[in-house]
Amino acid sequence: MTAALSPRVRRLRDLATRLTTPLLPDDYLTLINPLWSARELRGRIVSVTPEAEDAATLVVEPGWGWDFPHAAGQYIGIGVAIDGRFVWRSYSLTTPPSRDGKRLVITVRAMPDGFASQHLVSGVAPGTVVRLAPPAGEFVLPDPLPSKVLFLTAGSGITPVMAMLRSLDRRPDGGEDVVLVHSAPDADRTLFADELDLLARRHPTWRIVQRHTRDRASGATGDELVGHLRIPAGLDEVVPDWRGRQTWACGPAEMLDDAERAFADAGLADALHLERFAASFSGSAEGGTITFARSGRTVETDGATTVLQAGEQAGIPMPFGCRMGICHTCVAPLSSGAVRDLRDGTESRVADTDQSTRTVQTCVTAASGDCTVDL
Ligand SMILES: Cc1cc2nc3c(=O)[nH]c(=O)nc-3n(C[C@H](O)[C@H](O)[C@H](O)COP(=O)(O)OP(=O)(O)OC[C@H]3O[C@@H](n4cnc5c(N)ncnc54)[C@H](O)[C@@H]3O)c2cc1C
Ligand code: FES
Repeated sequence: MTAALSPRVRRLRDLATRLTTPLLPDDYLTLINPLWSARELRGRIVSVTPEAEDAATLVVEPGWGWDFPHAAGQYIGIGVAIDGRFVWRSYSLTTPPSRDGKRLVITVRAMPDGFASQHLVSGVAPGTVVRLAPPAGEFVLPDPLPSKVLFLTAGSGITPVMAMLRSLDRRPDGGEDVVLVHSAPDADRTLFADELDLLARRHPTWRIVQRHTRDRASGATGDELVGHLRIPAGLDEVVPDWRGRQTWACGPAEMLDDAERAFADAGLADALHLERFAASFSGSAEGGTITFARSGRTVETDGATTVLQAGEQAGIPMPFGCRMGICHTCVAPLSSGAVRDLRDGTESRVADTDQSTRTVQTCVTAASGDCTVDL
């Protein structure tokens, strides 16, 4: 991600560039310390600690130029080298900002066949240098806090909410009316289970419900499982007053889709705040050769590879934020050819006769035949 650098850091970088010309300042800086880079934000993984089954908590110490306080609920981008190329993913920060801002904590669940998450959970060694993108995201609590709050989470969707709970836990009053309903398959796969129990004991005005979807339902005579939380019917049983609460929800797409429908049906769309971890791609594209005009590189792509991924594979510093079509940080000019939006199949085309370009969101579009992007 192209970061907005503070004037002090920009001045230092300009100075480094002048002093080290004709060689790049990075050639010198990284010899002294691999966390110093004039081109990009870097960090070092200082620990990888198992956190429930298939998940790990990683602590990252950011290097030179990192001056980005975050709000609880925001995410960062991490670029990690796998098989010789950098792969970028977003991860929610699970703690409020540390006092010196020099400790970034994320918890990653290893997705089955997940390219980056498997590596981060069980392949990456402490000491590894990663690339970083600054905190972003609107999934944050307002100030002042609403009088009644509901958190609705499932699986790794607890991560941004964990940062919120930890920041509420730090507040001196601590008397908020907070309900968390968190679902996980079983106790072994519940992230932060012990800490959630501890928080519930420490805050008498909080209610923390941990549901295990693969447990046998109470009173069941057969193999009936607790199952996924049904919204709104199941929610009516667990949190009868949910309609009177501002709600922050993060979890699998189906759960969030159900919540979106239920809140809209109740005329409460504004009371629901969602964080999605993945865009849903139902469209497809033809693929083709993407020319990155300013970088002078071309990449052959299939119809499932986004323009953003193609650029990253070619080593081009591509701007990005959410990587799922929300924030528009990734927009780039398309100067010839066409791309297709993988969410709904819509094509954006620049006709040969067009004098102008059109901007496209590189994170959700793929080549629809040969095209040129001005990056
Ligand atoms: C704002 C934001 C915050 C995030 N925070 C966290 C976090 O705190 N902890 C965490 O573990 N992950 C988080 N993610 C998800 C993370 O960015 C990666 O998508 C995830 O780790 C999978 O990456 P991968 O390379 O292992 O999977 P890939 O190799 O990219 O994908 C493997 C398969 O899984 C599917 N897939 C990928 N991601 C998801 C998903 N999230 N849900 C369902 N299917 C998926 C793909 O379609 C593919 O079929 C966040 C994502 C976003 C956008
Ligand atoms: S990166 Fe956020 S819209 Fe593309």
